[in-house]
Amino acid sequence: MSTLVHGISQLVTCQGAEPADVGLIAEAAVVVQDGRIAWVGAASVAPECDEAIDLGGRAVLPGFVDSHAHLVFAGDRAGEFTARMTGTPYDGGGIGVSMAATRAATDDELRALVAARVAEMRAQGTTTIEIKSGYGLSVHDEERALRIAREFTSETTFLGAHVVPPEMRGERAAYVDLVTGPMLAACAPQARWVDVFCEPNSPYAFTEDESRQVLAAGIAAGLLPRVHGNQLGPGPGIGLAVEMGAASVDHCTFASDDDLEALAASSTVATLLPGVEFSTRSPYPDGRRFLAAGVRIAIASDCNPGTCYSSSMPFMIALAVREMGLSPAEAVWAATAGGAAALRRNDIGRIAVGALAHFAVLEAPSYEHLAYRPGVPLARSLVLSEGALEGAR
Ligand code: NIG
Ligand code: FE
Repeated sequence: MSTLVHGISQLVTCQGAEPADVGLIAEAAVVVQDGRIAWVGAASVAPECDEAIDLGGRAVLPGFVDSHAHLVFAGDRAGEFTARMTGTPYDGGGIGVSMAATRAATDDELRALVAARVAEMRAQGTTTIEIKSGYGLSVHDEERALRIAREFTSETTFLGAHVVPPEMRGERAAYVDLVTGPMLAACAPQARWVDVFCEPNSPYAFTEDESRQVLAAGIAAGLLPRVHGNQLGPGPGIGLAVEMGAASVDHCTFASDDDLEALAASSTVATLLPGVEFSTRSPYPDGRRFLAAGVRIAIASDCNPGTCYSSSMPFMIALAVREMGLSPAEAVWAATAGGAAALRRNDIGRIAVGALAHFAVLEAPSYEHLAYRPGVPLARSLVLSEGALEGAR
């Protein structure tokens, strides 16, 4: 069964290796067969197919790849957000508040909350979602967070080392032993990735040595590393991510020239999370500096109850353009092909023969409208490969 997708005013393939090269085709068509893209080109020379979908002159992009999200939590922290907007700085302490609400929720309550967030993301053009644990912080609660996350995506990340939970505050070493021992053993079967909040500037998060222990244990258990680093100040996170061969280091709000040099010489992607700077009233990293240094970048939402309770990749693209100095093309590339690189995937994030049929369709004639019309619900998902779908049921 082949499907011709046509009526595409502008096809953004994101096939190029460089962020500025989004590979545009005007008046385009795509052929989908067995859930994968089988042909891409000008509609005027498209092959015959069994059925057709007419998109009526809309722009089409690869579905957004949201490579960083914390969706398994209960409750919210609107009061903490309000306090931040009038000057209270973020320090990670609120994670314990979300932990308590998450532990108190039933499996079915958590599942319904995750389902609603996934649906919200899909409705805005996101077709792949990475989901972290990190609000359980006990063997039982981390395992169940990942088990529930696994029902929605194969990109699940064990983040037992999010913060030291309140009941173990005086016992950091014992908590690291728990994370790298019984908690990892329970969680590894449900996870693809291991992550750590490496942030010596937060009294709740982890030092460089503690973070190295967590990542090394995760790798030994068969997980692939990724890191939260350099969010609250200059620090060791980026260097550690490169040292450990992480697929991505996320935040990078405070990156030194040496950090950028190390990233450029590595295969580690720098994932920028502009919604966090927005929601914590922090300075944005300069995206141009990363690109000039030759660093591969991604953009993700970091959707979570503390530092960014937005699930909207179009909003992240608009922020990256307005506040981080990226062109609309660079921001779109980072939100698609960049996110795929941050998840070490080559079957998503681009519209190319062999890739999964995951698209974002815009209620607009060109991709620039994502940044040009911020806050307007222009994007929706079109997924023609349900069997292989990531991030939704
Ligand atoms: O990526 N920085 C650490 N973790 C999350 C925030 C979690 C929270 O505050 O609830 C982040 O920003
Ligand atoms: Fe995060």
